[in-house]
Amino acid sequence: MKAPVCNAWRLYDGLPWSIKDKTLPKAKITALGCYTPPRILTNQDLEKLVDTNDEWIVARTGIRERHIADPGMATSDMAIEAAKCALAQRGIEASEVEVIIVCTVTPDMFFPATACLVQHGIGAKGAWGFDMIAACSGFVYGTTTGAHLVAAGTHKKVLVIGSDTMSRIIDYTDRSTCVLFGDGAGAVLIEPTADGEDAGYIDFLGEIDGSGGDALKMPAGGSRMPASHETVEKRMHFVHQEGQQVFKYAVRKMYEVCRDLLERNGLTGADVGVMIPHQANLRIINAAADRLGIPSGKVLINIDRYGNTTAGTIPLATRDAISQGRLKKGDLVLFAAVGAGYTVGASLWRWAY
Ligand code: ACO
Repeated sequence: MKAPVCNAWRLYDGLPWSIKDKTLPKAKITALGCYTPPRILTNQDLEKLVDTNDEWIVARTGIRERHIADPGMATSDMAIEAAKCALAQRGIEASEVEVIIVCTVTPDMFFPATACLVQHGIGAKGAWGFDMIAACSGFVYGTTTGAHLVAAGTHKKVLVIGSDTMSRIIDYTDRSTCVLFGDGAGAVLIEPTADGEDAGYIDFLGEIDGSGGDALKMPAGGSRMPASHETVEKRMHFVHQEGQQVFKYAVRKMYEVCRDLLERNGLTGADVGVMIPHQANLRIINAAADRLGIPSGKVLINIDRYGNTTAGTIPLATRDAISQGRLKKGDLVLFAAVGAGYTVGASLWRWAY
């Protein structure tokens, strides 16, 4: 068997514990709500801001337009809309939610946590929660954490939200980054499966690699480099990216993490019902899917309409998969992401509704 990617896996000999120990409860996603702000920024709009053109952006990234939040809207506002939508879909009251995990790199402010603002905004009295900073891998990490809280038998209703207002930390004079990102949010509810139900969370594989931290970051505003006139003048409160370095890492890791996850579950790309990858660049997605042997018809792509919404991409793509009839009850779903940090993660789920 191939050397596993994550250290935790080395503790377990054989199958992952989640499917090895049949006595543990299983976790499933029971509802999904999304929100994107109505304002759209097209490639043609960006041509007026920086030296770029629609042809370059489409050919290099696959993006045609992205949604941008109006000035009054922050990450928690989008998260609240997505959460309300998920709860309405499930037909439950916010007061029934026990945990709120908000995955974001664009919190309303450093503290209080966006999870607290969402808790208050939806009226989830009695819930606890926290923010998770894992950039583009946020939703994969957040849903895995939520699944484990449910699988531990300690929680029955966990709300996981990916929400990012990337437009607030993008430098719209930097053509190499401003064409890539958009704003959006998605929320899922995670609950225990019914007795004997063959659905829900199966397995996760993750890896972080801080040696890549400098390749994609917002340099100032934290304890290393607090806000000052100098940091503002040097535009250090915006996303800085070594595009090619991140691209090469993402192409390699998106494939490797999926390959290893499938392999240790005795699966191949041919078994995957739907691959729902993080939407950073169409070329990264296609390269990974090709090498995994997953045909393009089974790979959800909506980067053309939303760009990279960081923690929002996977729930937005999942919503599209459902609405297009491409994700149905019983399908094997592969979520996968690579992002700033570096953070890498993939998870397997049997879709439950
Ligand atoms: N319009 C026109 N030309 C451009 C633009 C633009 N918007 N941006 C860059 N160029 C130019 C460059 O200046 C360069 O010109 P030169 O050859 O004269 O120097 C040329 O195009 C090629 O630039 P590259 O950076 O080599 O272009 P590349 O093909 O690598 O594409 C891109 C750039 C799209 C940013 C790509 O590198 C990429 O997608 N990187 C990974 C992004 C990613 O996955 N991020 C991780 C997730 S984000 C998160 O975690 C928050």
